[in-house]
Amino acid sequence: VIRPVILCGGSGTRLWPLSRTHYPKQFLRLVDDFSLLQNTVRRLDGIAGLGGAIAVANENHRFLVAEQFFEIGQKADILLEPAARNTAPAVAAAAVHAIGSGTQQDPPLLLVLPSDHVIANVAAFQEAVRAAIPHADAGALVTFGVVPDRAETGYGYIRRGEAVAGGYALDRFVEKPDGETAQRYLDSGDYFWNSGMFLFRADTYLDALERYAPQIRECVTAAVASDRCDLDFVRLDHAAFVASPSKSIDYAVMEKTDRGVVIPLDVGWNDIGAWDAMAALGQADDNGNTQRGDVLSIDTRNSILLSEGQLLATVGVSELIVVATPDAVLVADKSKAQEVKAVVEELKRSA
Ligand code: GDD
Ligand code: MG
Repeated sequence: VIRPVILCGGSGTRLWPLSRTHYPKQFLRLVDDFSLLQNTVRRLDGIAGLGGAIAVANENHRFLVAEQFFEIGQKADILLEPAARNTAPAVAAAAVHAIGSGTQQDPPLLLVLPSDHVIANVAAFQEAVRAAIPHADAGALVTFGVVPDRAETGYGYIRRGEAVAGGYALDRFVEKPDGETAQRYLDSGDYFWNSGMFLFRADTYLDALERYAPQIRECVTAAVASDRCDLDFVRLDHAAFVASPSKSIDYAVMEKTDRGVVIPLDVGWNDIGAWDAMAALGQADDNGNTQRGDVLSIDTRNSILLSEGQLLATVGVSELIVVATPDAVLVADKSKAQEVKAVVEELKRSA
């Protein structure tokens, strides 16, 4: 059985002011009538052998998660983190939970999915998942690699090794290199971007943690062992979970493992990380503007203009991000899209 593990505990601060602490981006209906989280689940429909999803979220968002699964007629085990400890502990909790709640003898496969991605070609995505299954069954940690088209520093990079069925052995994994290094990787043609999705057996992952990050495994195992069920939610034990080191799966395991496999993913993949990614979704008009809501743009180019509930007018500007919500307005240079998170940091500091 394959259990989807939906990571939805991120904060999405680079999409402020639409993405808020109490309503982060994965719950927003950014590209169509469904939220990014809902689309993450919906695109699995049709994969053979799927078991129930496991969502791992911050406890503050429990009702949002439950409601969004309910809306699309799906059920999930919802594991609640008392505080964010990044993705390595979140996936560990799902792994321990999946093994503990499984009835079958074979340990379940976990299909780890971030909830902030857009994928255009769902059939090709499902094909890649199918290609990954035999490798995961055999004890590999499978990643899905996207061919890079720019020296993006917000992603992990994977150097491919020898060819294996449907993909490559993972020769090297480097999480978020600096710009110069990223450019070198891009030029070499030997690297994929890490899409952030993974497939492995729950026990393979826990073994890797044991080896590379034993403290995470220990704390999270304890947190699941004394979890508490509350309505439909599984609350991880507070003290045990917050004692875990805070680390992403990329740094904790994928950079270290010698059991990696990368399956190429050519599916129109987009990580909606920051506002500039909205423009990449192909909704721009003839002037290069991506507009949403009540917007009037005159002599305006290459800008992202969104308004919720009030008229937004621009004249004679270019390369801007303007996002107007009822209680906050963002005006940013498009080249500084990554730095929007500084606003949230500053707001938190002064709160
Ligand atoms: N439950 C839980 N708890 N989920 C979390 C936590 C946490 O503490 N932190 C992040 N997440 C969720 C986010 O909501 C998102 O869906 C996913 O985990 C990935 O986290 P990001 O914060 O978006 O990671 P990233 O984009 O910086 O980097 C990852 O994704 C890139 C591709 O989008 C890495 O895997 C990179 O290597 C990869 O290239
Ligand atoms: Mg991301």
